[in-house]
Amino acid sequence: MSVTPASKPSFGMIGLGTMGRNLLLNMADHGFSVAGYDKDAAKIALLAKEGAGKPVAGFTDLATFVSGLQTPRAVMMLVPAGPIVDSVIAELQPLLAPGDIIIDGGNSHFTDTERRAKAVEAAGFHFFGMGVSGGEEGARFGPSMMPGGDKEAYRVMQPLFEAIAAQVEGQPCVTYIGPGAAGHFVKMVHNGIEYGLMQLIAETYAVLKTGLGMDNAAIGQVFTQWNEGRLQSFLLDITKDIFGFMAPGTNHLLLDDIKDEARSKGTGKWTSQVAMDLELPVPTIDTAVALRDLSKYKALREQLAGLYGPAAGKLPVERGAFLGQLEQAFYFSMVITYAQGMQLLSKASTDFSYELNLADIAKIWRGGCIIRSGFLGEIFNAYQHTPGLAHLLLDEQVQQLVNEAVPGSRAVVAAAATAGLALPGYMASLSYFDTFRTARMPSNLIQAQRDYFGAHTYELIGKEGVFHTQWTPEHEDAANKQQVQVQEHGADKEPVKPNS
Ligand code: 6PG
Repeated sequence: MSVTPASKPSFGMIGLGTMGRNLLLNMADHGFSVAGYDKDAAKIALLAKEGAGKPVAGFTDLATFVSGLQTPRAVMMLVPAGPIVDSVIAELQPLLAPGDIIIDGGNSHFTDTERRAKAVEAAGFHFFGMGVSGGEEGARFGPSMMPGGDKEAYRVMQPLFEAIAAQVEGQPCVTYIGPGAAGHFVKMVHNGIEYGLMQLIAETYAVLKTGLGMDNAAIGQVFTQWNEGRLQSFLLDITKDIFGFMAPGTNHLLLDDIKDEARSKGTGKWTSQVAMDLELPVPTIDTAVALRDLSKYKALREQLAGLYGPAAGKLPVERGAFLGQLEQAFYFSMVITYAQGMQLLSKASTDFSYELNLADIAKIWRGGCIIRSGFLGEIFNAYQHTPGLAHLLLDEQVQQLVNEAVPGSRAVVAAAATAGLALPGYMASLSYFDTFRTARMPSNLIQAQRDYFGAHTYELIGKEGVFHTQWTPEHEDAANKQQVQVQEHGADKEPVKPNS
């Protein structure tokens, strides 16, 4: 089945789910002649219906789809991350000619993108991975896009992607991110931040509903008001809409009928996994991932609620004043969530040589994507002002905002902890902040313990070297009690000489 436009399509999309279809329609709206391929004839029929009168063609046969494209061909895949991407590439390659471009626009793991880029380039084709954010609406009317890898190939595609991207202050929300899998890495961290922000909003819902005993209409009003102020964001915007959406044929919210078990496709977990590999803490994001997992243990939660009693009741607070503190607490935790994501990007940029420009990334996240918010303007300013900024919290303007908001965070976290209301994301954010501003942490004790039970060594204040001590009383002879310096840093090194 096919529907053909007047001129030869200059761009092809493989995978015509809502995202793929909407991106094609967006391109067609901007005057590009495009084609789509999907095995599913129903999706081609939908493309034909939605794209009626536009320069869009649809195909259920891959070879016909590919052979009809302008050369050099540009083909983008929007298929589920994982082995399907590999099988699509394998099917596609014999149909392409050297110099053609393959783009992976899905949420692929960045290590898969590294591997595929090498293999596809070795076969004579161009390949780049590109994160695409914004959901269905973004794809249709302007997403934020994060292309990385083959720069030459991106330059060929740049006019198309700039035309269809969301625009903020006349600037397209797309830019070349960096070499290798930089685009997919940045998209993954975007999603990690997304998980963190969503967890914070869900916790806010718990405070308003359980802690303050507010009904859905009043909760919706809070989110509406917040979204009109400095907290303005896409996620709050859709949240306020959710608080106005009735279950069809009823007079109650659809939200109240939805199971409290959160699912995920893995990008948040990948962010935490990579952050741990890079030894770069992102505890608010980790917490958000863990809490989605915890939510799935519904039966166990019910059992424990029965055994220990319900977790929380109303907070003993004055609602008006507390709402002000809650707004501060949310603002503070939101800043911390972005700060963790940005620091992870900065670390990955160094460790993986991604050459990331954090100001540019903040800039293209200001529109089109799921984590777009007013605060991204502040992040952009911070990294624009100091490109090598080691941490967002070091920025002077951010410092001021954080100092103003942190008392609210303390008040909310303290009240919730006392009442037994779970606010893990808020708490993780506050603890992260308080720990990061601790010049001397209690980690010296951890080092002592490690050395005690495993001779894992420790370092000393004001003295070069790595040391080991025999801590146990049964070896009390004088020589063994000596602190000894070991040759190299690392676990289980043999002491080489007594340290007098
Ligand atoms: C976006 C989103 C999108 C992601 C969904 C679902 O930027 O448009 O991040 O890419 O797939 O948010 O993610 P989970 O199923 O893991 O929640």
